[in-house]
Amino acid sequence: MDNLVIRKYVNNDFNEVINLVKDNFNIGDNIKSLEDNLNSFGIVAIIDKKIVGYLRVDKLYNPFKKYYYYFLSYVCVDSNYQNMGIATKMLEFIFNYAKNDDVSYIELTSKSSREAANHLYLKNGFVVRDTNVFRKDI
Ligand SMILES: CC(C)(COP(=O)(O)OP(=O)(O)OC[C@H]1O[C@@H](n2cnc3c(N)ncnc32)[C@H](O)[C@@H]1OP(=O)(O)O)[C@@H](O)C(=O)NCCC(=O)NCCS
Repeated sequence: MDNLVIRKYVNNDFNEVINLVKDNFNIGDNIKSLEDNLNSFGIVAIIDKKIVGYLRVDKLYNPFKKYYYYFLSYVCVDSNYQNMGIATKMLEFIFNYAKNDDVSYIELTSKSSREAANHLYLKNGFVVRDTNVFRKDI
């Protein structure tokens, strides 16, 4: 795909990104900006000046094992552009970026019902860990 550009998110991308994320995930309407801290950033995929893909990266530190890792979330591609390899290209961008960012591994979670996503992650070298994800709402 010659006209595909993958780059880091900038503030001007906000409106397009928020619409894309809303289409794919259950998020509220009252988000005005993505105020990232220094260790978080987004990646966008662009075709012909249109944002067609997004993912978020949080760089986290494990002080016991003394390493950083990435946690990915909100991985999504516009439904008109799926199955063209765009998410794969975004992941490849992150894998290359991580090599120069002192990161030991990359982690994410995905519902088992998200079949395309699970296929995507396995195809790109992620393995399923034997662990449960717990959450307590506050
Ligand atoms: C998951 C998602 C980001 C993938 O984006 P994409 O650009 O279409 O991904 P790619 O084209 O790089 O790869 C998709 C792969 O899934 C496969 N696939 C598509 N639908 C599938 C299905 N129902 N079951 C299994 N595999 C499927 C494709 O064939 C392709 O694999 P291949 O390259 O071996 O043929 C996109 O489908 C999406 O935005 N889904 C809705 C949001 C979502 O579920 N996000 C993940 C949250 S964890």
